[in-house]
Amino acid sequence: MKILFTGDMVGGAGRRVFQRVTERLRSEGRIDLIFANAENSAGGRGPSPEIAESILGSGVSAITLGDHSFDDKKLIPLLQTDPRIVRPANLPSEAAGRGMTTIETDEGSICLILLVGRVFMDPVDCPFRTADRLLNLVKTKTIFVDFHAEATSEKIALGRYLDGRVTALFGTHTHVQTSDETILPNGTAYITDLGMTGPKDSVIGREVEPVVQRFVTGMPQKYDVAKKDPALEGVIVDVNLSTGKALSIERIRERA
Ligand SMILES: [Fe+2]
Ligand SMILES: [Fe+2]
Repeated sequence: MKILFTGDMVGGAGRRVFQRVTERLRSEGRIDLIFANAENSAGGRGPSPEIAESILGSGVSAITLGDHSFDDKKLIPLLQTDPRIVRPANLPSEAAGRGMTTIETDEGSICLILLVGRVFMDPVDCPFRTADRLLNLVKTKTIFVDFHAEATSEKIALGRYLDGRVTALFGTHTHVQTSDETILPNGTAYITDLGMTGPKDSVIGREVEPVVQRFVTGMPQKYDVAKKDPALEGVIVDVNLSTGKALSIERIRERA
């Protein structure tokens, strides 16, 4: 089964390019199933319930979030009830929603886990120990992990720590795609960052000039979401759902 997993969806430009490119990839027979990180899908912030539902209604099997999970408080009821939306698993147990879910497909079940990193990010529980705890509970052979983290070292380390225990581990959050996609020695498909599904003519999705001025002047600026040169970035992994093994990983960047 060929599964597309896309990097952080940013704003309206990101939602539109996602729609157009996934329709094309489906019609070309290149993908069978889609997972999308949608943590910036509403004007650069976490999705509203309407946006989350429209992404899920467009043929996406599940969406992951990140450090922007609770930007829109109106999403909380949906986080509690819809098993296709995943927030980070290593948050306090009182946090709304779920950090792990199971998606049923024609060929078998897929477990999807989201973790956030601890380096250069807000304090959370240990992603390594949380992964250990969750993997003890998982009953499916096919397991996908989205590791939403800033530091490349932390992402590579978790990939190596879970190598052979999960089908695939993909980094998200930096909005910049890395070129290190690989099958790790014990069989886990891996990339340090999937990249961004959004406007490439930007500073990680925001209009260039205010971000530059913020750095130059040290003064706060209004960061509008950029629109130009949208692209979809992510990977397509070919997975055998009866063994839970990744057969291949292909990195993609597609413009509409
Ligand atoms: Fe993001
Ligand atoms: Fe993020």
